[in-house]
Amino acid sequence: MTLFDVYPLNNITITKALGSNVWDENDVQYLDMYGGHAVISIGHTHPHWVKRIEEQLEKIAFYSNSIIIPIQSQLADKLGKVSGKEDYHLFLCNSGAEANENALKLASFHNGKKKVVAFSKAFHGRTSLAVAATDNPSIVAPVNETENIIFLPFNDEAALTACFEKHGKEISSVIIEGIQGVGGIVLANTSFLQLIRTLCDKHNAVYIADSVQCGYGRSGQFFSHDYAGVNADIYSMAKGMGNGFPIGGILIAPQFKAKYGMLGTTFGGNHLACAAALAVLEVIEQENLIQHAKELGDYIIEQLKAIEELKNVRGRGLMIGFDVPEELKDLKKTLLTEFKVFTGEAKPNVIRLLPSLSLTKEHADEFLTALKGAIELLKARK
Ligand SMILES: Cc1ncc(COP(=O)(O)O)c(C=O)c1O
Repeated sequence: MTLFDVYPLNNITITKALGSNVWDENDVQYLDMYGGHAVISIGHTHPHWVKRIEEQLEKIAFYSNSIIIPIQSQLADKLGKVSGKEDYHLFLCNSGAEANENALKLASFHNGKKKVVAFSKAFHGRTSLAVAATDNPSIVAPVNETENIIFLPFNDEAALTACFEKHGKEISSVIIEGIQGVGGIVLANTSFLQLIRTLCDKHNAVYIADSVQCGYGRSGQFFSHDYAGVNADIYSMAKGMGNGFPIGGILIAPQFKAKYGMLGTTFGGNHLACAAALAVLEVIEQENLIQHAKELGDYIIEQLKAIEELKNVRGRGLMIGFDVPEELKDLKKTLLTEFKVFTGEAKPNVIRLLPSLSLTKEHADEFLTALKGAIELLKARK
């Protein structure tokens, strides 16, 4: 049997990782400015995370959600404290798409309505409704197509207001990333998020904050949507939540009433995943990683802005993007092959930085030096 070939691969095998570094099978060291796609929040193989998982593994790894699993409540408590959303409820699942799928479904159960407002260049995952709300027709199979999604231009307040005036009675929810990731690091305007809050309140619709990529402290606030100073009704989370251990979840505002059978999962909230997620929050707290992400992010953004070849440097905390001009289109590849630095990308010409929140200033400087070196190398080759 061979693997189903759905990913274009870099010809690299990673065999070891620590903090913001990874090593290949020949012991070549790489700097990870991509965080394994925004997943590594507290650093690869953080000792506290390893220890908590090991200790849990020796006791029990899994039992179904038909029994009491105290570590789920410990996780909910800690998440409430660290996120500041202490009166919310937690439902646990396994991935970002699943979190959004449950969020959209819960919204519809709650208000009995069917339409979902989503935005241009949004990415919400690959399950049926999440992918339908994703602005990329090439990944939507015919069976996923639905007339229940209304796409609007991102950050367009007039279009959003007009849409609610026309379809307010049918709109169940509005789903939005606080900072679009796959869409190329595009920040939702504060006033736009505030308008979503107001319109959802007025029309009995649910505001869903997709925090799968931009959440969990990455932006310098626990949720990047928090910059707007208004609460969402549901926050979806995944990537940074387990530092690589698969876990996702939604935070649900108090007005939602749970009913048996409404949502469910076999693996979600298993003992081992909860141990990993608790370890992540403990480290975020102990190492003050949210504040660190903000400060180091500000520094990196400032340094990037001083590099004249790079355009439109933007982002918050350690979620940063910039446009690469056509003559430097091989920058990402050069950084990887010649300077041993992993970065992310967004089509057609954006480099995305999504490093661990524990990235050090030395690592940041190492990256900036490599970046300047790669730019010079590409210019010299022209
Ligand atoms: C904003 C956002 N939402 C949802 C998802 C889907 O998450 P997953 O791949 O864990 O299903 C992603 C993944 O990249 C994402 O960036």
